[in-house]
Order: sequence, then structure tokens, then C-alpha cells
Amino acid sequence: MKITEKTITIGGNTNKPITVNRLGYGTMRLPGDMVWGEPKNKHEALEILRTARNKGINFLDTADFYGDDITNHLIAEALHPYYDDLLICTKVGAGRTPDKGWKVFDTPENIRTSIDRNLKTLKMEQLQLVHFRIMPNSETPFKESLQTMFDLQNEGKILHIGLSNVSPEELEIGLSMGNIASVENAFGYGQRTSFSFHGQESRGLQEVMPLCVANNITMIPFWSLQNSLPKNNDKIAVIAKKYNASPAQINIAWLLHYSDLILPIPGTSQLKHFEENINARDIQLTEEDMIFLG
Ligand SMILES: NC(=O)c1ccc[n+]([C@@H]2O[C@H](COP(=O)([O-])OP(=O)(O)OC[C@H]3O[C@@H](n4cnc5c(N)ncnc54)[C@H](OP(=O)(O)O)[C@@H]3O)[C@@H](O)[C@H]2O)c1
Repeated sequence: MKITEKTITIGGNTNKPITVNRLGYGTMRLPGDMVWGEPKNKHEALEILRTARNKGINFLDTADFYGDDITNHLIAEALHPYYDDLLICTKVGAGRTPDKGWKVFDTPENIRTSIDRNLKTLKMEQLQLVHFRIMPNSETPFKESLQTMFDLQNEGKILHIGLSNVSPEELEIGLSMGNIASVENAFGYGQRTSFSFHGQESRGLQEVMPLCVANNITMIPFWSLQNSLPKNNDKIAVIAKKYNASPAQINIAWLLHYSDLILPIPGTSQLKHFEENINARDIQLTEEDMIFLG
């Protein structure tokens, strides 16, 4: 099997490409229970972010609705002024309710509010990559929300635009409106296609993969571990034993070998797990391993 690419270039077909190392970190596990409030152990949360810098992780996935606005504050506290090659990727389209719930927040006005909040908390003048997160039960036409994203890009507040929780039909529409640098959908070894979660559809990466490959769109999978580890897959266990690795590491290595367009962002609240997950970068699966895993 060929050595997997160590880096990935986002926005490669634009005049502002950004190259990052090919394992990122999703920050959603840093706040307290139900992605709400301060972390249980703030010291550990800040330590994870600082370890990211020291271990060559230069892609962080966040949102102003994680916390509420907790992860962005943690990122700024741990890492500002930012290291040169750091890409902080955020998302808009959702918000929070006081009872720790999630709400649709995707009117043009909502999107502008979220972008300004991200810029303020992250202490940035321009957001490098922002996903428009498509929410079930939205009442705003998709094109209207996405047009607002392109307007904000023209105004200089956003560099690259991505889509999250997107269907193939919506991605086609997005591509007809402008450049889409990345897609963030649910995907992992144990769950590759769309599924229902709390009665709402989570869109899988597999369905949009042909379009991403055809258009050189970076694929950022979420819930890669959450939807896979609890299944205790036998084949993952066999390969984990072969490499003296953990199931989480094999899940991440599988993603890295599956496609060079995939940029995994495993999440964790624990420094121990974070360091374990980073070490998955060093596992070289063979072609036979990948065929066996399927
Ligand atoms: N665009 C979207 O709609 C969307 C939706 C969801 C998430 N996201 C992004 O995707 C990122 C990843 O998703 P996620 O964090 O929800 O889930 P995930 O990466 O699939 O898995 C995280 C879960 O796995 C556990 N875990 C992590 N490393 C482990 C290890 N080495 N051994 C055992 N357990 C381990 C974590 O527990 P511990 O905390 O105990 O380690 C946590 O329960 C998020 O952080 C967020 O940035 C985006």
C-alpha cells in the first residue's frame, strides 16, 4: 500500500490554498456535559490544545455553538497569538437554547451574527474555513443561507466555504453557486452512510464522496469514533492486535488510508486519548489490511 499523504491542501483550486497536516482535532468534546459550559477539567482542555500545537496538529474544528462559545474561548486562551500554519475551521447554521438544546440559526442575519461572534472570540480578522451546517427543520431556503456565506466571503470575513451535513443534491447546488472547499459529514468505519439520530437525519459522507472526489473537495468526517468504537468490530480488533494498537487508532488509520482527500478530526476530552489518537498517524496499514477491513 502506498504511504498515505501526510498533508492535505484545502481550496487547492483557488488562489488561496491552505495546506495542513493530515490529522486534525475536533474540539466539540472539550466543554462540559451535552457540549455545554466549562470543561470538567479546564487545565486538561487547555493542555490538549497546547499539545496539538507541539505535536504538529494544525487543523482544529470548532463552532461558536460549542459550549456555548466555550471551545472558541479555549482555543484563543490556549493558542492566541496563533502559530503560523494553524487553520481554525468553524461552522455556522446552528445555535443553542438555554436548556442545552440545539436550534436552527441559519437566516442571513443569524449567519452574520455567528460569523462576527467567531471572529471576535477567536480574535481573527478573517475565518479561514467555515462550514455552513445544514440543519433539519430549517425554514430558510438553502440557497439563501449559502448566498450569505458567499457574500461574507466577498466581504473578506471568510476565506474558504465548506458544507456540513450536506446531501448530494445540496452539494450540486452549492457547486453551481461557487467554490466549495470541503464537506463535513458523518463517516467512520462503523457507519458510513446517512442515519437517523434523535429522529433527525445525519448525512453520511459516502453518498457525497463521488462528488467530492470529482471536485477535489476535502472530506472531513465527524463521529468517526463515536459511531464505530461501541460496535467492537472483530476485524478492527484483529488489525489492532497485529499492530499492537488500540481500536481507536485503527479506526483513525483506516480513515487516513481510505482516501487521501479525508482529513480526520477525532474528538476527545482526554489528553491520554488525544495522544493515543495522534499516534495513529504512524500506523502504516497494508493493502491486505485494508481489503480485510473492507
Ligand atoms: N459538522 C457537524 O455537524 C459535526 C457534528 C458532530 C461533531 N463534529 C465535529 O467532529 C468532531 C468529532 O466528533 P465527536 O468528537 O463528536 O466524536 P468522535 O470523534 O467520533 O468520538 C469521540 C468519542 O470517542 C471517544 N474517544 C476518543 N478517542 C478515544 C480513544 N483513543 N479511546 C477510546 N475512546 C475515545 C471520546 O471519549 P473521551 O472524550 O472520553 O475520549 C468520545 O466519546 C467533533 O469534535 C466536532 O469538532 C461536527
